[in-house]
Amino acid sequence: MKKKPWGGRFSKETDKTVEAFTASVHFDKRLAPYDIEGSIAHCRMLARQKIIPAADAKKILRGLRSIAREIAEGTFPFRPELEDIHMNIERRLIEKIGDVGGRLHTARSRNDQVALDTRLYLRDAIEGIDGLLKELILILLDKAKAEEGVIMPGFTHLQIAQPVLLAHHLLAYCEMFQRDRERLAECAKRVNRLPLGSGALAGTPFPIDRDFVAAELGFDGLTENSMDAVSDRDYLVEFFTAASLIMMHLSRFSEELILWSSEPFAFVEMGDDYATGSSIMPQKKNPDVPELVRGKTGRVYGHLMAMLTNLKGLPLTYNRDLQEDKEPLFDTVDTVVGSLTVFCGMIESLTIRRERMENAAAKGFSTATDLADYLVRKGLPFRTAHEVTGKIVRFCMESDRDLASLSLDEMKTFHPSIEKDIYGVLTPKASVDARDVPGGTAPVRVKKRLAVLRRKVVRGFRGRRSG
Ligand code: ARG
Repeated sequence: MKKKPWGGRFSKETDKTVEAFTASVHFDKRLAPYDIEGSIAHCRMLARQKIIPAADAKKILRGLRSIAREIAEGTFPFRPELEDIHMNIERRLIEKIGDVGGRLHTARSRNDQVALDTRLYLRDAIEGIDGLLKELILILLDKAKAEEGVIMPGFTHLQIAQPVLLAHHLLAYCEMFQRDRERLAECAKRVNRLPLGSGALAGTPFPIDRDFVAAELGFDGLTENSMDAVSDRDYLVEFFTAASLIMMHLSRFSEELILWSSEPFAFVEMGDDYATGSSIMPQKKNPDVPELVRGKTGRVYGHLMAMLTNLKGLPLTYNRDLQEDKEPLFDTVDTVVGSLTVFCGMIESLTIRRERMENAAAKGFSTATDLADYLVRKGLPFRTAHEVTGKIVRFCMESDRDLASLSLDEMKTFHPSIEKDIYGVLTPKASVDARDVPGGTAPVRVKKRLAVLRRKVVRGFRGRRSG
């Protein structure tokens, strides 16, 4: 058999360095199950449309299924000299069933074939990532429920700002991850179009039935321009964008967990099964998991930039540059899946140190805004109330006291309208209770939002937990 499937017009063998340089099978073999799935649908269509004889189609289908088994069992002979997964599978088919295997590639090109394979792969990957996001949200909602009522300091500039519910903080991430799911769903709409039938670039002269293939493979519709379909990868850029935002959210959360588990904060303790030790310092328990999630964020951003750069200035239609889309794609999926998986377990095994959070929530004059708001209710313009409160804070700082420890007489020296009822507003509990607005941290609001989010997420849930 000829060495190259395309060797007809060549008189010299490919240089070894070129062979090694152009080969992609060592990574695009991950597309094998999708390549076979696509070929099965294509073959059925060719027979239905009488483009190839039914008996030949039967042999091809049988051959493809036995190749699928070889791949699943790890016995398939991957050959780099056959470049990519598409030609590896085609050559194996011909070895198994003879020349009739050569009919499979009728009305098809590797250009529409590879576009099909990456779309099928990505469709599955998006579903898997969405399932993990759902799972993480549910774990966070459970945690928020279990720690209902726990108050912690909310920060701005990493300085204690105002008390908030821990549940409110956790739900902030649920909102982010829910938006990440919306972005993935939006991307999936454009991924889920059948490019097969575009041929090399211009379509095909055979009487194919693209709608049949689309239905067989569960696509929502067809790509509408063959030149666009074989050269476009903007759906990958969209996916890398969505993935970058997921990693960005995980990275912010990671950073907080790293801070929170450090001794000066001591707000949380990582489970022993999710932390690591030091080879020299026996006392250490390190948050390596969130550090690695934070660290891996950069590679996903890098893949987004690589893909944008790959496509920039690329003339229509297919160019071999496009083969460079796969490693970033696989690595992005692996990184996001790996990070989300480990994150779910890490959050589940996290211990919340409630008193540490609540003690910190009462520090740093966290209820100073409540004092100013109190003065506003007594009739002062907010700016004046701010000024008066600032003076009280300064007085406390100089005498190393906190707001609630001042006597009423001491307070009154700053403003006569301060009454006994001031002590009811200076606690962290009163502070969070008061923020009873849509989106605020008041316990009633947080409880309601938690229930709404749970309903949203549970609807249509197909993650690991659904059993
Ligand atoms: N391995 C190629 C890729 O990943 C498949 C398409 C090759 N087509 C071609 N005409 N060289 O893009």
